[in-house]
Amino acid sequence: MVIAKKFVINKYFEGEPKRSDLSLVEEEIPELEDGEFLIEAEYLSVDPYMWPYVYHVPLGSTMIGSQIGKIIQTKNSKFRVGEYIFANVGWRTHTVVNEDDGGVFEQTPYIMPDIEDLPRSLGLGTLGLTGNAAYFGLVEICFPNSGETLVVSGAGGAVGSHAGQVGKMLGMTVIGITGSDAKCKWIKEELGFDHAINYKTQDVAAVLKEIAPNKIDCYFDNVGGEISTIVLSQMNLLGRVALCGCISSYDGDPKILPKGTNIQPLILSAQLKVEGFLAMRWMNRWAEGFDQNLEWIRQNKIKYHETVTEGFENMFDAFIGMLQGNSMGKAVVKV
Ligand SMILES: NC(=O)c1ccc[n+]([C@@H]2O[C@H](COP(=O)([O-])OP(=O)(O)OC[C@H]3O[C@@H](n4cnc5c(N)ncnc54)[C@H](OP(=O)(O)O)[C@@H]3O)[C@@H](O)[C@H]2O)c1
Repeated sequence: MVIAKKFVINKYFEGEPKRSDLSLVEEEIPELEDGEFLIEAEYLSVDPYMWPYVYHVPLGSTMIGSQIGKIIQTKNSKFRVGEYIFANVGWRTHTVVNEDDGGVFEQTPYIMPDIEDLPRSLGLGTLGLTGNAAYFGLVEICFPNSGETLVVSGAGGAVGSHAGQVGKMLGMTVIGITGSDAKCKWIKEELGFDHAINYKTQDVAAVLKEIAPNKIDCYFDNVGGEISTIVLSQMNLLGRVALCGCISSYDGDPKILPKGTNIQPLILSAQLKVEGFLAMRWMNRWAEGFDQNLEWIRQNKIKYHETVTEGFENMFDAFIGMLQGNSMGKAVVKV
């Protein structure tokens, strides 16, 4: 008999998620039916979207999320025992999966390609959602050109650190904004960003004016809020903004229409193109993003860092730690 552990949602988050909003419970796994297979989680992802998207499922559901799991039983000839798959099945150690299960993003399970010596956890980050958000978001939304200046917020995190490196490959001057000196040092000294700004200790507006005297052409926005208002105010005519995320507003109640900062004059006067995107838009090109990012890792053009928390029981600590800025690069949990 297999016993699964899972986190269930007791209460929707009000402001920052609290440990008591979730409970860790056990569940007996039933016999498989035809077409199903059973996976055992190896790595689970913790992502900012889990904060606002928790409202998309009913209370009492398993906490949402994706994982890389090993198939340990199967009644589906396409998914064989021993293979590793990516699946959006939530915060669970063992899961009976059907090939149509797609989670909140309707992204169905797929077999992880063999990446040899690299950690399989990359399937949750650089070779998964965050890598594809960085790759498609920068290339398809920002229309980056060599010689232009790119600003990336959330630059010490999973998507931001990746997007900035793609910008460097394309010949841009890249400025990263993030929340600690350690992350500033990492993105500058190891990832090759031209400049890094610690928004918690520096005056972002003043530093940007000094290091980007010719203003900003592209903005890859992961955070929204005041940081983004400052960046928008220093953009060149016809600048492009890829709006990937707005973590500074995830604490809001999704049922209440937000009272936004008045940024329209900035967009109008510089005639900016601002476009929100979800990486899932390129679901039909997912493998292209995977292959491109894998090639760049092999060529040492994309460097990754993972903050790995050990132990399924520590999912909540990994999640809240990532939201509070304690992780660098991609935050994952190893069971
Ligand atoms: N559009 C898509 O398809 C897509 C896909 C993946 C992710 N995203 C979005 O992209 C963004 C980054 O995601 P990620 O997975 O790479 O997460 P991440 O950057 O690795 O982790 C989140 C980081 O955001 C920073 N942060 C937290 N609160 C903040 C605030 N109020 N203002 C400024 N920064 C704050 C913290 O780092 P600091 O130390 O820098 O404060 C925190 O560690 C998120 O907004 C996420 O929702 C979008």
